[in-house]
Amino acid sequence: MDMNREKYLSDPRFRGIKPFPSKVWLSSPTMHGEEMAYVTEAIETNWVSTVGANINELEKAVADYLGMQYAVALTCGTAALHMCVKLAAERINPGAAPGNGLLGHRVFCSDMTFDASVNPILYEGGEPIFIDTEADTWNMDPVSLEKAFEMYPDVKLVVLAHLYGVPAKMDEIVGICRKHGALIVEDAAEAMGAKYTGSVVSGMCGCFGDFSAVSFNGNKIITGSSGGMFVTNDRADAEKVRKWSTQSREAAPWYQHEELGYNYRMSNIIAGVARGNMLHIDEHIRQKREIYERYREGLRDLPVTVNPFESKSTPNYWLSCLLIDEKAMCSQVRGDKDYMYETEPGKSCPQEILDAVSAFNAEGRPIWKPMHMQPIYRMSGFIVRDGNGRARSNAYIAGDGADIGADIFRRGACLPSDNKMTPEQQAVVIDIIHRCFE
Ligand SMILES: Cc1ncc(COP(=O)(O)O)c(C=O)c1O
Repeated sequence: MDMNREKYLSDPRFRGIKPFPSKVWLSSPTMHGEEMAYVTEAIETNWVSTVGANINELEKAVADYLGMQYAVALTCGTAALHMCVKLAAERINPGAAPGNGLLGHRVFCSDMTFDASVNPILYEGGEPIFIDTEADTWNMDPVSLEKAFEMYPDVKLVVLAHLYGVPAKMDEIVGICRKHGALIVEDAAEAMGAKYTGSVVSGMCGCFGDFSAVSFNGNKIITGSSGGMFVTNDRADAEKVRKWSTQSREAAPWYQHEELGYNYRMSNIIAGVARGNMLHIDEHIRQKREIYERYREGLRDLPVTVNPFESKSTPNYWLSCLLIDEKAMCSQVRGDKDYMYETEPGKSCPQEILDAVSAFNAEGRPIWKPMHMQPIYRMSGFIVRDGNGRARSNAYIAGDGADIGADIFRRGACLPSDNKMTPEQQAVVIDIIHRCFE
């Protein structure tokens, strides 16, 4: 990394640019003051456990904001997703042994996402089948999903993520899942505050699943430093998650257990941070939108586009990303853990942009590496528009067909999107990106 840094600082293309004295982050926590007040109150009143006013008020605030009846505060978004998947498993396979809720069941899952979307499928013994990504929102492709149901008509569960705060094509996906009688686990970890106004469904991300989860991880639009929430309109499901997440106690004077429990409940201290932060969600979304719009304008003259969304969507603009036109890609090779690229005039690539930005003390990130490309999921199914996405090349025939997720991973990058980044700092980031293409 340091060698790269020296290389860019002495590269004549970047002459005159000075490294940022303090780091410009991808997306870091933004505290306002109320967070500290709620945490202090919890400590002063000794509600320093997994019960207290901060938890109750945060649950109310999030449910109201999303237009949902119930929210259950948990340790993290991954725990919330696990509870979602476990509830789904109980419907699909009632009475299964712990950890075997999805044993023998295939589950369709977003492919270009963080692995936390997928892990809970494995916690419950299921077999993920990855569904390719579409180019209009960078989310699960409904055409590939329909194809997957054609190939595996018995599948009863779809785990869907909204990437970078951009709603997926919900009308199509909900329509397909209803047609095939499949449940939806909605991973809205990155998408709190994003809206979708469709003809089949409308509302905030987090209200579209049979079971939905949001995250308050430190880099999310609202943070508790960590934390997550299960959201639902089903009272029994909310009560079940409350029970499971606090070690599944039965109503007895002692600790009596009839089913497997988890220690997944949020702490009242974390809830204080998230409760205070939640007061600023609209402001955070506005700041993120301004960042996105400045990138869109500032990069307009380059052979790149910013991450797209549909007209029926209002994203929360959590991360701004770019996608380099194919004709402007210099050569870039990625191994499992390392990479190489060759700088070319008029061209660039994500790794060059990320290295250049990093050399000047700003943080970008590669696009989520699609799950079907991950070593851990090398043997898992992957479905594209015309069927099996694996083993597509033929030594005797040219071309190997579409893999939209792999292509976005190859040509895309997440840009510094911190809501404390000033327009002046962002102008420097935009300048650095321009110079990569010189
Ligand atoms: C798409 C997605 N799903 C799930 C998670 C998991 O959330 P958490 O980190 O709160 O467990 C994250 C982020 O961390 C995410 O980006």
